[in-house]
Amino acid sequence: MKGLLTAGGHGTRLRPITHTKNKHLIPIANRPMLTYAIGYMADAGIKEIGIIVNAGDDEIEKSFDSGKELGVKLTYIPQGAPLGLAHVVKIAEPFIGDDKFLFYLGDNILVGGVMKFVDEFEASGSNCHLVLSKVSDPERFGVPEISGDRIISVEEKPSNPKSDFAVTGIYLYDSSIFEAVNSIKPSARGELEISDAHQYLLDSGKSVSFSEITGWWKDTGKPSDLLEANRLVLDNLRGKNSAKVDNKSSVTGRIVAGKGTTIKNSKVRGPVILGENVHVENAYIGPYTSISNDCNIIGCEVEYSIIMSGSSLKNVERRIEASLMGHDVELSQSNTRPRAHRIMVGDQGRVEVA
Ligand code: G1P
Repeated sequence: MKGLLTAGGHGTRLRPITHTKNKHLIPIANRPMLTYAIGYMADAGIKEIGIIVNAGDDEIEKSFDSGKELGVKLTYIPQGAPLGLAHVVKIAEPFIGDDKFLFYLGDNILVGGVMKFVDEFEASGSNCHLVLSKVSDPERFGVPEISGDRIISVEEKPSNPKSDFAVTGIYLYDSSIFEAVNSIKPSARGELEISDAHQYLLDSGKSVSFSEITGWWKDTGKPSDLLEANRLVLDNLRGKNSAKVDNKSSVTGRIVAGKGTTIKNSKVRGPVILGENVHVENAYIGPYTSISNDCNIIGCEVEYSIIMSGSSLKNVERRIEASLMGHDVELSQSNTRPRAHRIMVGDQGRVEVA
């Protein structure tokens, strides 16, 4: 079985972070988001993976190269324009050939991996296997209509959903999906919809089976989804604490920290991950916080946040929480008069002061 992974798109709901960084590289527990999907595939024995990238974008390739470090072989497939998920499958046909494959939307994060779904697809003998999750807002997703152990229809973002399940971004196919994606027509929004390809399979007598995700799943479209994904991953945090901690500090709960990291006169309450060369002084770092390499956290309180590399937080009186900060961000409190907020943020930045 091969793997097909999406890593394109524009991540509009995560601007300004995505002005300078591909959404799929945003760190969750200090590892690029896409690392998790690749890891799940590798664990399920899927080693040959095609990654769909925006044409001209070499950021993903620069991060993952041949995939050797993650124990997989990666092939980069450029998509010229965002013409829909069924279009993604269409352009991947030369890479997939006659193999069965797992199609995974790179911004979907789940707990527990994909092995169970691969096994259930193989056992079902179906042409297509969809992974479903119960949601409160099915109208945002592809929605299945279910009868017994089979799906009988699928609609994309219906205003009257026929079930309270979302079709998640984890799909398993045999090569009959190629006839489907080559036959359907673009939807009203001008895209080749993956739900229309599923409906085409059903209309042409193919069988569509399903699994249900009972654990946690999210498609990380919004900043709050990323913070939740970070929380979930940190809940299962494992690794070494290599930080140098002085005797005026207290460190409780699970902490992973990289080389060159120092904690002075501070309180750190896990689960927390600190990268390499992070300097924490006179500070409090609370649960579910990920701080990447080369950050300084001095005289501040931070909790339930993601701080990317090279950032510096100094002497801010109020606790910083539920925050997402990019690379090389500087946040400080000055006591010079006039007492005022002096802010320089890029386009579509979001700052909430209290
Ligand atoms: C896409 C699919 C939709 C699916 C969702 C899962 O939606 O079109 O069927 O339920 O991914 O993440 P989009 O994220 O493009 O709105």
